[in-house]
Amino acid sequence: MNNKGKFIVFEGIDGSGKTTQINKLCEYLEQKGRKVYVTSEPTISLTGGMLRDALSGVSKRTSCEMAAMFVLDRIFHNVNNKWGIEKMLADGYDVLCDRYYYSSLAYQGSETDECWVREMNLNCPEIRRPDCCIFLDLTPEQSMARINRNRATQEIYENEEKLTQVRNQFYRVFEQLRERDNIQIVDAYRSVEEIHQDIVALVTK
Ligand code: ADP
Ligand code: TYD
Repeated sequence: MNNKGKFIVFEGIDGSGKTTQINKLCEYLEQKGRKVYVTSEPTISLTGGMLRDALSGVSKRTSCEMAAMFVLDRIFHNVNNKWGIEKMLADGYDVLCDRYYYSSLAYQGSETDECWVREMNLNCPEIRRPDCCIFLDLTPEQSMARINRNRATQEIYENEEKLTQVRNQFYRVFEQLRERDNIQIVDAYRSVEEIHQDIVALVTK
């Protein structure tokens, strides 16, 4: 790896271990002397707050509203000059991001016009393409078992039927983006340490 900041996105269905692996990679990179910035979507912006209300079921939104709000949140995530991705990369940080446009293509793309969702995200000049997307792959049964074991409340997409649809859509999206984006699929049904070692090998390559 060189000294310029890298933009690495983690994706996976809910409960696939993204937070766990991002924290471990952050620790590893910092020990190697790199500056690391961890971030996630939805963000802490106003739009991010509206998205969280919709995800928890507090407010009802259509799939198109969700898709558009995620795009607005993502643009702000890229360009705002306090904690935006562009700024952090320019300041020499590696940016580790929990979810990005692949989630919109999979979650909203499986509910509404997928071409429209793809165009808004991939053709937007203010939405940067990541250096690498790491997809933590878990079956919906495995991920629901982890969610049910560890949490009292559930979000609108956290059921086995929806996660099956989303995982299939992730695979379709990765097939479409194979030539365009650097997407790495990692088997997430293993120990935290084994998965971490694979991720280190991928990002230091
Ligand atoms: P996400 O951010 O993708 O929702 P988390 O990292 O929060 O996933 O993990 C979901 C739950 O599964 C947490 O309780 C976490 O401790 C647990 N977990 C994470 N990785 C593993 C693993 N490799 N094996 C078993 N449980 C795991
Ligand atoms: P979050 O609370 O971050 O949970 P997890 O740790 O399981 O990822 O969940 C964010 C939710 O938002 C998740 O269900 C996926 C959904 N989402 C979309 O539907 N579209 C998007 O573009 C993004 C970024 C997230």
